Amino acid sequence: MLFKAKTLAGLAFAATVTLGASQALANEFRLGLITPPPHIWTKAAEDFGAELKDKSGGRHSVTVFPAQQLGNEAEMLQQLQTGALDMAFMTAAEVSNRDADFGAFYAPFLANDIGHAARILQSDYARSMLDQLPGKAGVVGIGYGMAGLRQIVSRTEVKSADDLKGLKLRITPFAPILDFYNALGAAPTPMPLPAVYDALANGQVDAIDMDGELIWVLKYYENADTIIESNHMMFPMIGLISAKVWAGLSEDDRTLIAETMNKHLDAVVASYVEKEPVWIDEIKGTGKTYIKVGPEFFGDIGARWDAIWSEKSPSLAELRNLAAATR
Ligand code: BEZ
Repeated sequence: MLFKAKTLAGLAFAATVTLGASQALANEFRLGLITPPPHIWTKAAEDFGAELKDKSGGRHSVTVFPAQQLGNEAEMLQQLQTGALDMAFMTAAEVSNRDADFGAFYAPFLANDIGHAARILQSDYARSMLDQLPGKAGVVGIGYGMAGLRQIVSRTEVKSADDLKGLKLRITPFAPILDFYNALGAAPTPMPLPAVYDALANGQVDAIDMDGELIWVLKYYENADTIIESNHMMFPMIGLISAKVWAGLSEDDRTLIAETMNKHLDAVVASYVEKEPVWIDEIKGTGKTYIKVGPEFFGDIGARWDAIWSEKSPSLAELRNLAAATR
């Protein structure tokens, strides 16, 4: 939360230092996220904090809490709502648990490739979806980052979708991915990111749904036999600010924070566009069984998923049209 000077205790929104009534307040923001320190999202959060401090002449600082130090994403979203936490870089997956419209981003094979995923996320339509967040979730959505497209890593041999049936398959805890693997006949096992490496290593799960950065850079492949490059879903992230904290900021500070955060969110997107193909190539060279599959591998799962989610997400049809127009 914003650290408040005692003299300002009665104010709803305060800051560490007062420089006089007409001068802007100084803030020590706290930003939470679940990714570990070496992850692209965590580094981007730190870069954002450093640049904000610099551009504000030291008036604003950001302390980054990685690796779920402040709680899991559901808990952090709650803290953002109460103003106990100022900012987060959060999976759109968690946001979709509060506002199902964001589930549309997980439509199977919405994006053809990582560059296409970037175009979808940086579209005016995707940006307009953020407008609903203050009313529905008590947070302000500043912009999108992402992680790579989703792949499957399995301890057992997988040659067809039938081989996934009954597998205990780790998923990020959110409904769109649960529906995807339920439709496949797997046994989807919701598990937050920090628990996944060990769960795969010790056989608590048979397989995981994951992205190229974690599979390659953070070495999740080490505990698997088969890597399936399926690219079946995109995985957006959203830069969030507590609506309560936002309400206490001046227009100038809002602009400074939003512009600076968006610069670093865009850099996250650019990093994945550049690096994901490289990681995938590296994974191919590990000697693990590697298969590349397309939508046909999953049969009619896309249509079945859309039948469920068109009821829940008004934006699904719009995003499917947008995706078709930007291929
Ligand atoms: C995951 O749940 O798989 C995940 C979460 C954040 C960043 C990347 C992956």
